[in-house]
Amino acid sequence: MQVVRTIREARAAVAEAKAAGRRVGFVPTMGFLHQGHLSLVAAARQDGCWIAVSIFVNPLQFGPSEDFERYPRDEARDLELLRQAGVDLVFVPTAAEMYPPNAVTRIHVERLTEHLCGPWRPGHFDGVATVVAKLFAIVPADRAYFGRKDAQQLAVIGRMVRDLDLPIEVVGCDTVREPDGLAMSSRNVYLSADERRRATALYRALCLARDQIGAGERDVSRVAAAMRRVIDAASPTQVDYVSVVDAEELQPVERIDRRVLIAVAVRFGGTRLIDNVVVDPPPAGS
Ligand code: PAJ
Repeated sequence: MQVVRTIREARAAVAEAKAAGRRVGFVPTMGFLHQGHLSLVAAARQDGCWIAVSIFVNPLQFGPSEDFERYPRDEARDLELLRQAGVDLVFVPTAAEMYPPNAVTRIHVERLTEHLCGPWRPGHFDGVATVVAKLFAIVPADRAYFGRKDAQQLAVIGRMVRDLDLPIEVVGCDTVREPDGLAMSSRNVYLSADERRRATALYRALCLARDQIGAGERDVSRVAAAMRRVIDAASPTQVDYVSVVDAEELQPVERIDRRVLIAVAVRFGGTRLIDNVVVDPPPAGS
């Protein structure tokens, strides 16, 4: 496994793999890896790819009062996990390598960023879209793998790739969960034991919503109120949102009459957790 820190070395390694006829799969991450990240690597391996992973805690996607400084980092452990997973290339740039002092270009994806996390994290998705576009230019892969855990991020990146005709296929992969349903996240380490138990309310609320829709409920306000009760019972510090949006454009809906994304963002202490499920209501009359 090759570990490189410069753009020039990363490009050269990918060019060599492509010259050897390999299909290149790319998994961008911010490190502190868990089974969710490794499931993306496994998906790339399943597709027969030569696999590149990036580890970069991207300052551009953190707000001034967010956790950039204290975001968990453990490069040695990450590299060991990636070696065991059979990864071919790891790109670990510094912030100076990615952002020279006079870098002023930003990518903004409209509409899909208007709701859910967009209003709560101003500039976040511009930071994500900009760094991912750069990473795609540095690691010109055939496919890039992203988790559905970050559904809005996946939608933003998919739309950016389509709108800008970037020559890469975006692949979405299912959310990996702890046995009690909590979505795996690098930020889960911030939770106290008590917060960790209460945090299971996110997925329980999402499952309740899915069950209610499966039983015929189509009224978003009723579904959202039931979810709210489950979440409030876990005494969160703050509920940023409990939202039902259409799964394509991420716009709020009042009735569940097409495929929807049900998404929550909840804070326990200083830790902000997000989770979601996609629900396809059965056609009327079935
Ligand atoms: P990070 O949070 O490290 O996540 C890297 C990738 O792992 C993302 O595609 C994310 O959706 C996926 N992932 C995280 N938890 C997951 C889980 N429980 N199950 C499945 N996939 C999971 O997302 C980012 O980094 C950054 O915003 C990035 C795209 C790298 C840009 O900086």
